Amino acid sequence: MSIPVLTIDGPSGAGKGTVSRAVAKSLDWNYLDSGSIYRSLAIAVLEKQTDIEDVDAVVAIAQAMQLAFECGDELVVKLGGVDITSKLATETTGNTASIIAVYPEVRAVLLQKQRDFKQLPGLVADGRDMGTVVFTEAANKVYLTASAKERGSRRYKQLKEKGIDANLELITKEIEARDQRDQQRATAPLKKAEGALYIDSSDMSIEQVIEEVINLVQ
Ligand code: C5P
Repeated sequence: MSIPVLTIDGPSGAGKGTVSRAVAKSLDWNYLDSGSIYRSLAIAVLEKQTDIEDVDAVVAIAQAMQLAFECGDELVVKLGGVDITSKLATETTGNTASIIAVYPEVRAVLLQKQRDFKQLPGLVADGRDMGTVVFTEAANKVYLTASAKERGSRRYKQLKEKGIDANLELITKEIEARDQRDQQRATAPLKKAEGALYIDSSDMSIEQVIEEVINLVQ
């Protein structure tokens, strides 16, 4: 029996995580947050104080990495048995993840870890190359984006709500730098998969986006 897959790709801050989780919950499918795999590797690399330009060392860490995802009400991620969930969302983790995600050798090691999530009754996969590389066979693909300004202000609000000090201008600049790195890398660059539904969420509520994606699958 073939396992249905819905891929949701797009730049950071477009709302992919919120939309993917809600859609997975509504369809009762599994959920892959592929960014969290890159982020977990970034945490491992930072903790070991490895030079992020040393590709061989980063690949060795990726190969040895023991990751466990515990999906309850909130996602808990464990690296080598240690809960790293609170470190996943930081800007340092995200920026480091986007630097090491450029290496093709790193992407190759992480490929199978992502494909392992494809299990019955179905999978919603969120990332940058879900529809173009990891799950090219997916029947439904979405490219979800929003203007950098809108994504910057959403991220700013999220951080403020968590009581984290933030600078809107700096966050927007970092988002633009990350977009550029993700879109211009040679291997698996961020782009709309062929046949993907393009959604610009700049002027949409999260509920509207969720509805549009669920309609696509059904
Ligand atoms: O989506 P998130 O912001 O958590 O991803 C962090 C970084 O990991 C991205 O900026 C991107 O460089 C990298 N990534 C990737 N491919 C994916 C998911 C994330 O290269 N499928």
